[in-house]
Order: sequence, then C-alpha cells, then structure tokens
Amino acid sequence: MSELELDVHRDPDGIAEALRVDVRSGLSATQKWLPAKWFYDARGSELFEDITRLPEYYPTRAEREVLERQAGEIARVTGARTLVELGSGSSEKTRLLLDGMREHGTLRTFVPLDVSESALAEAVEAIRGDYPGLDVRGVVGDFTEHLGLLPGDAPRLVAFLGGTIGNFLPADRGKFLRSVRDVLTEGEWLLLGTDLVKNPDVLVRAYDDAAGVTAQFNLNVLRVVNRTLGADFDLDDFAHESYWDARNEWIEMRLRARRDLTVRIPGAGMEVSFAEGEYIRTEISAKFRPNGIAAELTENGFAVERWWTDEQNRFGVSLARTVS
Ligand code: SAH
Ligand code: AVI
Repeated sequence: MSELELDVHRDPDGIAEALRVDVRSGLSATQKWLPAKWFYDARGSELFEDITRLPEYYPTRAEREVLERQAGEIARVTGARTLVELGSGSSEKTRLLLDGMREHGTLRTFVPLDVSESALAEAVEAIRGDYPGLDVRGVVGDFTEHLGLLPGDAPRLVAFLGGTIGNFLPADRGKFLRSVRDVLTEGEWLLLGTDLVKNPDVLVRAYDDAAGVTAQFNLNVLRVVNRTLGADFDLDDFAHESYWDARNEWIEMRLRARRDLTVRIPGAGMEVSFAEGEYIRTEISAKFRPNGIAAELTENGFAVERWWTDEQNRFGVSLARTVS
C-alpha cells in the first residue's frame, strides 16, 4: 500500500530521533528501562499477532468474547458515526464492532491509528476490501502525541482495546485518559479494554509461554535498537523474564544480562555496561480491579455507562461517555 493512502505522522528520521531520546534516558537510568512502543516494528507486530493465538495468552480471546456479545449494544448505545481505534494493530477484534455498527446503520468512518506502519497498512487494506462504502482513514502516529489530528464526524467512539492502557505507568495513564477526553466533545464515547487482576501463575505464564514467542517479542526491542541506532546488542546475552509485581499489580517484562557486558550504541552516542543479572524493564502490563478503572475514568472526565467481563471474569470492557 502506498503512503498516500495512510496519514503518516512519523517519518524515519523522526522515529530514529525519538528512539535515540528514549534509549539515552532509559539506558542511562539506575533501573534501565525502555518504552514498550519500541517492540512494534513489522516483526514485532507479527510476533504480537502470534502471541494472541498462544494458549497461555487469554486476554485477546476473553476480550473477543465480550465484543461478540456486546457489539450490537455498543452500536445502539453510542449511535457512533466514527469509530477511532488507538493502537489498532491488526484490528481483528474490531471487525465485531464494525459489523455491529454497520448493522445499526450509523457508522460512516473508521480511523485506526498505530505506530506500526506495516500492521496498519495491512489492516487498512483488508478492512477496505471487506467493508466497501466505509471511509477508512489509517493514521500512522503515536497515541500520546497525535490525538488532535484525528478525522471523523461526531459522535465518535474511541476504542482502546487489548489492555494496552495497562502498558502505561499509572501517572501517564491518567494523562492519556485526560488527553482522550480533551479531544472529544461532551457526549462522545470511549470503549476501554482492561485485563483484570487474577492468579499470578496464570498472569506470569501469559507473558512467558512455553513456545518462547513472548521471549522473541521481548528481545525484538533489542533488534530495533540495533537496526535503528547501529547498536551491537547480542540477543543471546539476554534472558526473557515475566515477573508479577504484587504491590503494583502489574506484570513486568524484563531482559536480564546473562554476563557482564558492554554494548555500543553509536546512534545514541553511548556505551552501556551491564553487570551479570542486571536487567532492562521493557514493559509493564498493569492488571486492574473494576472499582479502580471506574474511578480513573471518572477522575478524567468520563461517566461509565456499561461494564462487561468475559464469563471467567478475566478481562473487563468499559463503555464510558464524556462528561464536563
Ligand atoms: N488493539 C490490538 C493490538 C494491541 S498490541 C489488540 O487488541 O489486539 C498494541 C498496539 O499498540 C500495537 O499495534 C502497537 O504498534 C500499538 N502501539 C503501542 N504503543 C503505541 C503508541 N504510543 N502510539 C500508537 N500505537 C502504539
Ligand atoms: C499490547 N499489550 C496490551 C500487550 C500486553 O499484554 O500487555 C503486549 C504484550 N506483551 C507481552 N505479551 C503481550
């Protein structure tokens, strides 16, 4: 697909510069860390799709179960003309919403937004093919920066699925919810998917599958840094870990150095040393409790109108309306 068919807010130089900034600050911190968005080059997006099909990774199936049941109700309650999807990836589950909204007869425009241009291009092409007459406006961008530029008529429904809200640190999560609220007018809608607190063994396994797909996804961030900034990370020097932080109620993905080593990162003008056992935190994936989600939505200008979970209470979906 040509760039002309997507609205691109990120060019390669801008991406390299943003990664340079994140690598310089994250890898010089006492507790080394990298933002989770850097997993998602073309290979990372494919690995994520593979993760969604793993037996251990229940969130995608649990959220799909809710959307299968409630898509008609979501269409009826919101009467949305525009569906905006943030961090849309393959938009596979979103088809359930598109079907419900098309049947209801109000939907005109679908605006998927993702940092991963390859994932977005593939999704846009497939959805244009399967939903003739729907105005599909793909946006390559960062949902922490580019919300002000979204097209589409009101009332809009912003979908943020998959539990991606859990990949923010708590302080950034509030800022993000407020930024979504601020681009909407009163009476527009947010559909928010949140993974729920549960048995830690189930959680740890969901992020450390037997086939090793999540390990490859985690290590992919080092591939991205090698390619973009000319770094010389040897992936064999790092071990994937999934850790349940019970105090913060989040899963942490880590890459732990197997030996003392130094990595050169010419594109960031730095060398980084690791002691054996030291780790980079590459992702947090917060797990929620129903009261906590409702409180955060309320604090940030939303009123929760509906709350659903899958049969096994593993994953929650909130439908919230903006209020002043
Ligand atoms: N919504 C899909 C995909 C979830 S994976 C689902 O529920 O299955 C998370 C998606 O968010 C990826 O496609 C990734 O590329 C995208 N993403 C991560 N950080 C982002 C950011 N800061 N801005 C825009 N997209 C982002
Ligand atoms: C995109 N996000 C909600 C996923 C999650 O579960 O936090 C990313 C992921 N990381 C490891 N497996 C999946």
